[in-house]
Amino acid sequence: MKELQREVAIVTDEPGWHGRQLKKSLKKHDIKSQYVSLTDCIIVINRGVKEIIIPGFNTSPLGIFVRGVPGGTLEQVIFRLNILHALYDSGIPVYNTPKAIERTVDKSLTSLLLSRAGIPTPTTWICETPEHAKIILDKETLNGEKIVSKPLFGSQGVGIHLLDNKSGLIHDEKFAGIYYLQRFIERQNNEYTDIRVLVLDGVAKAAMLRRGKEWLTNRSQGASCEPLILDKSIADLAESACKILNIDYAGVDIIQDKKGHFYIIEVNSIPAWHGLQSVVNFDIASCLIDSFVGQIDRIN
Ligand SMILES: Nc1ncnc2c1ncn2[C@@H]1O[C@H](COP(=O)(O)OP(=O)(O)O)[C@@H](O)[C@H]1O
Ligand SMILES: [Mg+2]
Repeated sequence: MKELQREVAIVTDEPGWHGRQLKKSLKKHDIKSQYVSLTDCIIVINRGVKEIIIPGFNTSPLGIFVRGVPGGTLEQVIFRLNILHALYDSGIPVYNTPKAIERTVDKSLTSLLLSRAGIPTPTTWICETPEHAKIILDKETLNGEKIVSKPLFGSQGVGIHLLDNKSGLIHDEKFAGIYYLQRFIERQNNEYTDIRVLVLDGVAKAAMLRRGKEWLTNRSQGASCEPLILDKSIADLAESACKILNIDYAGVDIIQDKKGHFYIIEVNSIPAWHGLQSVVNFDIASCLIDSFVGQIDRIN
């Protein structure tokens, strides 16, 4: 009898270069993969029946690699995360775990957990009413200082604004009713740089310097990527953040202030690695897949 081919799901709505990289690396392990959108999955509540229907899969996938959870209404996001939770609870490795994705997709929860653990992260205020936000803005920008306003579930620098005592609060289409206001970190020599570190299985594997033309240093906002030798203090900081968030792998954003202190500004549980790949000499997708397949093999 023909042996069943091992198969996993890559959860994404836009496979692109990252999806192809993952597929290629899975193939080296002789593992087939299919792209799956969470929007096409169905939860079935009927005792004795398989809970989650994943299109294209007659039997459960061996593992789920999460490359994208699309945004949407609160109900849609919760539904999509519930699917990942149900799959994880049924014993299927979900990479990153739904809990780790929840802890990091919500910037306020990440900030709370990091700060509580004593990990340096910029001073941040999260509130709901414009009155409270205005009081914080006025107080913090009294002497010409700036603060950063970010969408709670944002990414790639979209919807982030620099506020000062002249700008007032800014509400764009990304604003979803919660203010996440953060002290602006002025960088050395007024350079627009920050550091992205890839942490995998608890170990900082590689880093790059991102250099922007403006203060936002996301690659998708036009920043360039430069190789960076990982210094121990940066590696330790990124690793400790991932330990606190209990995350299998992450792209950790770190910023250095004028005095040379480092702060974690974000931990990405579904990081892009195209930019980092261009400045390192090992195959990032292969390393991620080796770790993911390791999890699959441990339970099968
Ligand atoms: N507190 C801050 N001070 C200065 N620059 C910041 C601050 N927070 C974010 N930035 C800049 O904005 C970019 C995007 O912020 P980040 O929190 O990583 O959100 P996103 O999820 O959109 O990437 C950072 O890479 C950095 O360049
Ligand atoms: Mg970021």
